[in-house]
This record gives sequence, structure tokens and C-alpha cells, in this order.
Amino acid sequence: MERVEVDVDAVKLSFLKGKDVDIVYIHGSGCDATLWESQLSDIGGYAVDMPNHGESCKAEIRDIDDYAYFVAKAIKKILGEAIVVGHSLGGAVAQKVYLNHPKVVKGLILVGTGVRLRVLPQILEGLKEKPEETAKMTSRYAFSDEKLADEFSKLFAERATILLKDLSLCNRFDLLEKYRGGEIKIDVPTLIIVGEKDMLTPVKYSEFLKQHIPNSEMVVIPEAGHMVMLEKPEEFNRAVKEFLKKF
Ligand code: COA
Repeated sequence: MERVEVDVDAVKLSFLKGKDVDIVYIHGSGCDATLWESQLSDIGGYAVDMPNHGESCKAEIRDIDDYAYFVAKAIKKILGEAIVVGHSLGGAVAQKVYLNHPKVVKGLILVGTGVRLRVLPQILEGLKEKPEETAKMTSRYAFSDEKLADEFSKLFAERATILLKDLSLCNRFDLLEKYRGGEIKIDVPTLIIVGEKDMLTPVKYSEFLKQHIPNSEMVVIPEAGHMVMLEKPEEFNRAVKEFLKKF
């Protein structure tokens, strides 16, 4: 698969690219663009390695708005505007891309995410004190399939430092009251996807999004956990392709 590089404020951002479609995928905590390989090869588009992840360069990231800044500037350079897909932390980034840089977003796909992403204290503490064991536990929470979970836990263990940093940012992400109070209004077509067995961002988080985003639809994928795009790529891609017919 091809790689595309874009400079934002002298920080190199690297994207994995499938066929030329104006979709940009944003990975979750401790992951990178390779998370989206099934989507890139079937649907196409661009998957970003956020700063400090994958093949992208380092940058100072203080909050989710900083990730959103880099992603939005890169979208502007590559495509002008795009349908922005975000998973988990990436879903928080996608919301911030829309809220802070609305001109680059023509649609949103929010996957296994929410408006507030508090993290279990035993994950945050455990990643500092016993990273390998905690990576395994986190991975078990992330997948409905134990075999996939144990394969993936090695990646989480290798990336414990950035995983902890990302999860700490998630833990501080909170737009709940702003959505409730009507201060946030998303008015682009939005698809919400969640695995039926998601334990990290349960279905009720997606239901909240559905209730507060007027032009939205929700697809709950059976027999899938938090890593729904990896666990059920066919069902996931079918939902995305159906949504793309709107554009
Ligand atoms: N959308 C809608 N409602 C939400 C929400 C979201 N994204 N996040 C929290 N809420 C609601 C909860 O349902 C709860 O409502 P209730 O009082 O009616 O039950 C309320 O807000 C407070 O919940 P929460 O913010 O989660 O705080 P808590 O102190 O009750 O629980 C955790 C903290 C960490 C135990 C809990 O957030 C959790 O289990 N998180 C999932 C596990 C995890 O670590 N996920 C990682 C995400 S990246």
C-alpha cells in the first residue's frame, strides 16, 4: 500500500493510502494507520499516523485539540475536505476536527467512541506499574475474540508509553454537558458504528451520539467488540459503503 507524506508546521505526517477516495481515517489510542488496512483496500481513502505514532514525526501534543489541528491541516492540504472517520480516541479527534475546523469535514463516521471517554483507573495506573499485564487486560477489553486480543496485546505492550499518553488525553475529553446543553450542533451527515460487545465505549455512548446529532444513523455490529473494524471488516465496510451513497 502506498504512503503519502504531508508537512504540517514542519512536522511530517504519514498516511497509508488506498484508492483515491475523500475519506480520512483516524486511529485510536496506541494504534496507527495500519488499523484501517481492510478499509483502505476495500473502500479506499487515507489513514493517518497521528504525530508520535507509526511513521509520523514527533510533535508536542497537549490535548485532543492538538491532534485535531494536525489532522485538519493535513486534510486541507491533501483533499480540501473529507469524510472523517475516527475510532475511539480518533472519534474524539474527529469531533474536534469538525468543531474546530468545520470547513474540512463534509461527513463524519464515529466508530466505537463517545462524547466523554473516561478510562478505568486500573488501566491508567497499571500501564505505569505493570505495562505488559495491563496491555493484555486492555486488549481483552478491546476485543470480543480472545485470540485476536492476545495477538494485539503484544503491540499494546510495546507501545505502553504512547498508549498511556493517549488514554490520559481520552480521560480528560468531555463534551457531555456541551452536547446536552445544545451548545454543540453537528450538521453534517454522520454515521455511528459500534460493536454490540464493546466494553470500552459501550453501545450507550453511541446511542447518546445518535440522540444528539440530528442527521445521524447508527449501526450496531453483532458479535464485535471495541475493535469492530478489525473484528468484522465485511459488516463494517458494508455500513460505510451504504453511508457513502449519501455523498
Ligand atoms: N456518552 C453518554 N453518556 C456517558 C458517556 C458518553 N460517552 N460517558 C459517560 N456517560 C455517562 C455514564 O453513562 C454515567 O451515567 P449514569 O450516571 O446515568 O450511569 C455518567 O455519564 C458518568 O459516567 P462516567 O463518566 O463513565 O464516570 P464513572 O465515574 O461513572 O465511571 C469509568 C468511570 C472509567 C469506570 C467508566 O467511564 C467506564 O467504565 N469507562 C469505560 C472503560 C474504559 O476505560 N474505556 C476507555 C475509553 S477510551
